[in-house]
Amino acid sequence: MRYEPKPDFKEKIDSLLKDGEDAEEFWKTIETPLPKTMRCNTLKISPDKLKERLENKGWKISQPYNNKEIIVLEGSLNPGELGKSIEHLLGYYYIQEISSMMPILALQPKENDLLLDLCASPGSKTTQAAALMDNKGTIIANDVNIGRIAILAANTERVGATNIIITRHDAVQLCQKLKKINFYFDKILLDVPCSGEGNIRSNPATFKMWNKKVIEKLSRMQRKIAESAIPLLKEGGELIYSTCTHSPEENELNIQYLIENFDLKIEESQLPIKTRPGLVEWQGEKLNEKMKYAHRIYPQDNNTEGFFLCKMKKIS
Ligand SMILES: C[S@@+](CC[C@H](N)C(=O)[O-])C[C@H]1O[C@@H](n2cnc3c(N)ncnc32)[C@H](O)[C@@H]1O
Repeated sequence: MRYEPKPDFKEKIDSLLKDGEDAEEFWKTIETPLPKTMRCNTLKISPDKLKERLENKGWKISQPYNNKEIIVLEGSLNPGELGKSIEHLLGYYYIQEISSMMPILALQPKENDLLLDLCASPGSKTTQAAALMDNKGTIIANDVNIGRIAILAANTERVGATNIIITRHDAVQLCQKLKKINFYFDKILLDVPCSGEGNIRSNPATFKMWNKKVIEKLSRMQRKIAESAIPLLKEGGELIYSTCTHSPEENELNIQYLIENFDLKIEESQLPIKTRPGLVEWQGEKLNEKMKYAHRIYPQDNNTEGFFLCKMKKIS
């Protein structure tokens, strides 16, 4: 079903993009279907072997980025075929949108790291991290929603990830409990709940739900989650804050608040897709100049959904 953007949403996107042609591209792109994409699960198969297997089935695929694990389905399949294939059931690939793969590529968890994934379900990024860590080290994957936890558990099992401990808590409460027992992490992923402006291509109902009050409420919730997680980061530890939304109130303004109130600095990170710098100014408010190292991902740049992420490091 198609929904029209509300006038203030349209105005906001247009003012973020500034250039009229660019904004036009944005609105055009979100009307087009999202390409089907997947991530090779290197815990079970190499990208080259998976490519061969899928091509032998007659699938047309490409690996257009400087990372062969990112696979784009070029031809069309029967409805549901991507999820029903034997390769999917065996956990050889994970159906994942390309922009959603970026936080873990920026975080680069290593073997033997202790990683906290605070809002983890359904597990796209948790399972990606487990693969990069080669099933070594430990990931605490938490989510508050029991239904989504069940999907996280099923995905973890399907991909053969064995270094994941799943917990079901409110993020703030879990962090308070871990702080009490002095439990610290090398890396933290905060893939927080958000207004989902970036998911409009796959979920046009976002247009209907969108309003400024919801954004304010989410922004406060995101800050609370981040504030409770940051004390759990080891000195020198790294954290990714990410959302699937374009709204500066849920992105740069939250990062600005965090770096002003905690011992955190924004770090540069390299990604294989085109991204744009984070905003260094929004509605007259000047932001930290390192905000340019945050990544804004717009649908028209790589034919993906929209996304935001920022890497930070604990300095003392
Ligand atoms: C953007 S989604 C996470 C997607 C996930 N990281 C992935 O890549 O598959 C946000 C998640 O936060 C969870 N969530 C919402 N409020 C929460 C809270 N207070 N504590 C923990 N998780 C929460 C939601 O249930 C949802 O699964």
